Amino acid sequence: MRVAVVAGGLSHERDVSVRSGRRVSDALRRQGVAVELWDFDVAFLSRLQAHEVDAAFVVLHGGAGENGTVQAILELAGVPHSGATSHACRSAFDKAVAKARLAEAGIATPAWTALPSATFRDLGAAAVNDLLVASLGLPLVVKPVTGGSSLGVTLVDTAAELAPALVAAFSYGVDALVERQMTGAEVAVPVLERAGSFVPLQPVLVETAAGQPYDYQARYDASSGVRYTHLLDEDPDFDVPALRALAARVHEVLGLRGLSRVDIRFDADGTANVLEAAVTPGMTETSIWPMAIARAGLDLGQVCLELSRAATVPQPS
Ligand SMILES: Nc1ncnc2c1ncn2[C@@H]1O[C@H](COP(=O)(O)OP(=O)(O)O)[C@@H](O)[C@H]1O
Ligand SMILES: [Mg+2]
Repeated sequence: MRVAVVAGGLSHERDVSVRSGRRVSDALRRQGVAVELWDFDVAFLSRLQAHEVDAAFVVLHGGAGENGTVQAILELAGVPHSGATSHACRSAFDKAVAKARLAEAGIATPAWTALPSATFRDLGAAAVNDLLVASLGLPLVVKPVTGGSSLGVTLVDTAAELAPALVAAFSYGVDALVERQMTGAEVAVPVLERAGSFVPLQPVLVETAAGQPYDYQARYDASSGVRYTHLLDEDPDFDVPALRALAARVHEVLGLRGLSRVDIRFDADGTANVLEAAVTPGMTETSIWPMAIARAGLDLGQVCLELSRAATVPQPS
């Protein structure tokens, strides 16, 4: 089988994607797959036309690789790709759209408002900020509506922190999401869908060093001291089967395919709230998805090969 691993790209998460791409390529090669490592750049289309591959495995993070652009180009060119379709990627990557779909399906997600930067300019930032605090309360979180790797995400504990947090989010895009801050534990649930059914991967409890946010550095610097604990079904503190079922439901409601990672955070009252679903989860040495694969006794290359093969089977439309 010949697979093009698409990694790199021009997003803020290029470095992470390059690391993910290298890892997936090595794992696939160990399975005897003929791998080509493709960047998403100006030469992408000519590579696509010049090379015969059976499938593409997209490990781009942020931007074009997660918002459905790369998937759309692959679909136009008739190249099967692992993971969600371009349409599903687009709505999952837009946190405001994804949250609305989850809420409509009865899935708990932190209360939120999404606003473009122009609103703050046109109506006056101070007045809009006051409304946000009066309506959503404190503490809050501000983040870009489309983004990833915690870039532009700020935890806002006081009203005075709201304005600079919005400025930070707007440096990543024109829309900001302002949502209630969940103060309970953080859990990421890796999802693997094989032949239409879900493989039970164990949720991972993410614990940062005291008082530290789960930011870019915490996520990708192995020395950041973040603790990842695989939760077993019989865990005394978490209803792990319910968390796994919730992640599978999110994957379904958002129309995802193959693989995803569902980020969940508990509210102070113990409710599991869904923050987002990542359609091309990180595959680096510190990433949760491959950690859970290894923990389940599965081989990353074998799983990526299966996902690539599954992509070549025509989907019912
Ligand atoms: N509503 C929230 N309450 C508490 N923490 C949050 C909230 N939203 C985001 N965070 C923190 O910020 C991190 C990144 O946010 P997330 O929405 O998953 O965006 P992304 O991973 O795409 O950057 C989360 O893993 C979590 O640690
Ligand atoms: Mg996340």
